[in-house]
Amino acid sequence: MVTTPAPGVARAAGRAVPGRNRPSHDMPGFDLAKIREDFPILTRQINGRPMAYLDSANTSQKPRQVLDVMREHYERHNANVARAVHTLGTEATQAYDAARAKVAAFIAASRPDEVVFTKNASEAINLVAYAFSNATTGGGALSGAPSHAMDDRFRLGPGDEVVISEMEHHSNIVPWQLLCERTGATLRWFGLTDEGRIDWSQLDDLVNERTKIVSYVLVSNILGTVNPTKALVERARQVGALVMLDCSQAVPHMPVDVAELDVDFICFTGHKMCGPTGIGVLWGRHELLRAMPPFLGGGSMIETVTMQKSTFAAPPEKFEAGTPPIAQAVGLGAAVDYLSSVEMEAIRWHEKLLTAYALDALETVPGLRIIGPRVPIGRSGTISFVMDGIHPHDVGQVLDAEGVEVRVGHHCARPTCLRYGVPATTRASFYLYNTTEEVDALAQGLERVRKVFA
Ligand code: ALA
Repeated sequence: MVTTPAPGVARAAGRAVPGRNRPSHDMPGFDLAKIREDFPILTRQINGRPMAYLDSANTSQKPRQVLDVMREHYERHNANVARAVHTLGTEATQAYDAARAKVAAFIAASRPDEVVFTKNASEAINLVAYAFSNATTGGGALSGAPSHAMDDRFRLGPGDEVVISEMEHHSNIVPWQLLCERTGATLRWFGLTDEGRIDWSQLDDLVNERTKIVSYVLVSNILGTVNPTKALVERARQVGALVMLDCSQAVPHMPVDVAELDVDFICFTGHKMCGPTGIGVLWGRHELLRAMPPFLGGGSMIETVTMQKSTFAAPPEKFEAGTPPIAQAVGLGAAVDYLSSVEMEAIRWHEKLLTAYALDALETVPGLRIIGPRVPIGRSGTISFVMDGIHPHDVGQVLDAEGVEVRVGHHCARPTCLRYGVPATTRASFYLYNTTEEVDALAQGLERVRKVFA
């Protein structure tokens, strides 16, 4: 049995000044100590110990810069958008529109109106899935123009196929299952390799002339796998299928450029990228958003309404029924400003360093098995693992007693757990504010777990 502590374990107790005396990366301008000062919550103690927050894949912490902007919005500019002609209404509308423009620029969208604000990534995926069945049943066909009910790309029925993968979050499984139930289409999926990657050998079989849409995750929330896109997109174009990427775990952590990805839709959520909860994003090619029928009906999404029929606004308003999450959008805009000021490339690099360091440390913990890629290549800073004979909930509780905050469970990706024969995992996930000392605290906490359950 190996008794030597994992790398850095011995040093963890002191939790030296973050970022000052540990392996650092060579990204000029990335000042970890300063970044940590931006996040008030990071000074918290948990059970009398310095907190190591390693659950950012679940939700990220928020910097003062975002909290301040949201507070100022409510204190100085609060009003409804696109309705009021008064000064506050104009200011709120300008702030809401500016947030959309910031998000569009952040993902290199060609125009701001390709960004639809939703409640979260799940709603964005549901929006697209419902557009398919609304087009199939003629929902929204009363709109007059454009004639989306006739757009064959969105019509789905028996014989048509929707393709996902076995590493999807439930939010990228259930909406498609429901769509297939509504329309009679068939759901198919890519299986996974033992190493935690999509099995691309199935590409030509799975993506074929019957495929209407392929929707899969750019970065897995449970395995940490970063999935390639090029071959899939090429194949989808060959057979005329649309491609949607769930970028919830990608946009917060790396530069994402929709033009470069060359897909049709992406979605992500604000609260995982230093923004507030209650705001998500659907990005779609403008031409597709114009052609799609609406999802939710109500105020603000219409052009005209009579008792007989309605016509709809242009996108993105067509998909934003009712009063939108205004302050949340403003907060997301501030989060984008914040992340841009740090630079996404620097954030990616910092997380690469933490990931490599953590994989090294975890490898030395006896009885620990990583579920997902074991090398720091083609993977993100989200690491799931199981420990022989110890339930993840017990692991999580002991770690919490040590001040280490991780997530345990199936991470809303139960089919992935089933694939790897585990009911649940413990998951540590890193972000721009995490330190190697916190990885040490994790490794030290796992030593404690082993002692408690020996
Ligand atoms: N999807 C979030 C996670 O992976 C909730 O934790």
